[in-house]
Amino acid sequence: MTRHAAHVPRSFSTHLNFVAELMMKSVGVLTAGGDSPGLNAALRALGKALVSRRQANLIGFRDGFRGLVENRIIRLDKEDLSGILTLGGTILGTSRDKPHRMPVGGKTLDMTDVIVENYRKHHLDVLVCMGGGGTHKNAWKLAQKGLNIITLPKTIDNDLEGTDITFGFDTALDIATEAVDRLHSTAHSHHRIIVLEVMGHNTGWLALGAGVAGGADVILIPEIPYDLDTVTASILRRSRGGKNFSIVVVAEGAHPASGDDEPERGTMRLARELEKRTRLESRVTILGHLQRGGAPTAYDRLLATRLGTACAEFIHEERYGVMVAARGDTAVAVPLEEVVGKRRTVPLDHPWIRSARGVGTCLGDDPAAR
Ligand code: F6P
Repeated sequence: MTRHAAHVPRSFSTHLNFVAELMMKSVGVLTAGGDSPGLNAALRALGKALVSRRQANLIGFRDGFRGLVENRIIRLDKEDLSGILTLGGTILGTSRDKPHRMPVGGKTLDMTDVIVENYRKHHLDVLVCMGGGGTHKNAWKLAQKGLNIITLPKTIDNDLEGTDITFGFDTALDIATEAVDRLHSTAHSHHRIIVLEVMGHNTGWLALGAGVAGGADVILIPEIPYDLDTVTASILRRSRGGKNFSIVVVAEGAHPASGDDEPERGTMRLARELEKRTRLESRVTILGHLQRGGAPTAYDRLLATRLGTACAEFIHEERYGVMVAARGDTAVAVPLEEVVGKRRTVPLDHPWIRSARGVGTCLGDDPAAR
C-alpha cells in the first residue's frame, strides 16, 4: 500500500466519523420518583441501543429533576452500562423534587427556566424521564416549555394510565406474595390474624395481586372501601369452620366505608379492632420499602429492556412528547396528554377481583349489595 493510498482512506474515515458525530443526537436521561426494580435494566437498554449503534451520546442527570437544575451529570458510555441489568435501584439516583416547586436554599422556587437553560446548554435533542405519575406531570410541564420529552413508565404501584403495566410492579408483587406465603405458617401456628400492609396509597394492584397469589383470606384495597363488620364476619366464619387464623392483606390507602378521622395509622387500628371483635390475637407486618429493593424479576428485566430499546427507536424517529407504553407484547407511543393527571385504578370488574371473590376471599364489602 502506498503512503498516499494509506492516507486517503484514513482521512476519508475521519471525515465520515466527523459527519457521523455531527449527526449524532444528544440524549439526556433521568430517573425520578420512588425507585423501582428495572430502572437500571431500562437505562442499559436505552443506552446500549443508542450508543452501540452510534446514534447518540447519552448523558445521565443525577437524582431526578434536581440533577438537571444543579447540572450534575454522568456520562453513560458503553462501559457504564455494563453489569447493571440485574441491579436494583437506579445508578443515577432519584428524588421526588418537582421542577416548578423545588426547595433551594431554604426557599421553594420554580426552577423550570433553569432546566430549560441547562437542556439547551447540553445541546440536548431529547430528555428521557423514567418515572411514575408525578414524573409524568413534571415531564409534561417541560414538554409544554418546548423541550423534546419521552417518558418510560415505572412504578411498583402499577397505576399509570396508558400502559398495560409498569416496570417494578412484577418484582414488588413477587416480594409481597412471598411475604404472604411466609406469614401463613406463623399465623397458622399461633392461631393469629396477621395483617400485612403493602404499598399503594391510591390503588390496590399490589395488595390485590399478592393477596390472590398468596391466598389471603381478606384483601382490602382503596378502590373498595371496607366494612369492618363484613371483615369480622368473614374471619369468624373461618373460625367456625375450624380455621382459627387469617391473613389480611391491606393496601396503604385502604379505608373504611364509614368516616375515618382517628389519628392512629389505619392498619394498626384495623388489627386492633379485629382482635377485639374476633378474640383472635392479631399482629401487623408493614412491608414498606422492602417491596422496592433488590434485583428485578426476569419479567421486569424483559419489560424494561423492551421499553428501553423501543425508546431508542422512537428517538431515532423523533417521536417526542410521548410515553413508551407496554401494549401486549409490543411497545407503543402514547401522547403524554393522555397519561398526565390520570390514575389507573383497579376496575371493579377486573378478573383478579372476580377470581378473589370466586375463591371466597373477603374484599371488605358485600358483593351481593353491589
Ligand atoms: O413508589 C410508589 C410508592 O411506593 C407508594 O406506593 C408509596 O406510598 C410511596 O412510594 C412511598 O415512597 P417514599 O417513602 O419513597 O416516599
